[in-house]
Amino acid sequence: MKHTHLLYLFIITAFYSCSYVNEDDLTEVIIVDGLVTYTANIKTIIDNNCISCHSSPPVNGAPMALATYTDVIAAIENRDLIERISSNDLGFVMPSGGPRLPQNLIDLIIQWQQEGLLEN
Ligand code: HEC
Repeated sequence: MKHTHLLYLFIITAFYSCSYVNEDDLTEVIIVDGLVTYTANIKTIIDNNCISCHSSPPVNGAPMALATYTDVIAAIENRDLIERISSNDLGFVMPSGGPRLPQNLIDLIIQWQQEGLLEN
């Protein structure tokens, strides 16, 4: 009986520890070697955190898509994308309603802008 309980505990623990390894966690440990590019670094961040609303066509009240390189550039240049992801105001920050992206991902997007918004 005792052993059965331990086995259940083990299975439950194993299940939960695996379920925490999602794509977002993997994105956070990307080590950027060289210049940041949309294809190598930025697209995954947008796909994991923004595309659920900013799809093409956008849903949930989002005003524009962030589905392509051109879409994301336009949002940085004309829609204050960097200010929106950097904000500490939960009523303003993107992703809408928060939480704010992990700081290293925000920094990566800022670095991408500083390096000239390279595609590849
Ligand atoms: C849950 C849905 C949702 C998610 C997820 C989401 N957004 Fe939004 N986004 C919205 C809505 C709704 C608006 C319009 C209302 C507003 O501006 O707050 C918006 C507006 C914006 C705007 C301003 C557009 C304008 O014309 O002023 C930007 C920039 C933006 N989002 C970027 C992002 C980025 C980048 C992400 C991912 C890090 C993201 N959003 C994730 C729903 C979402």
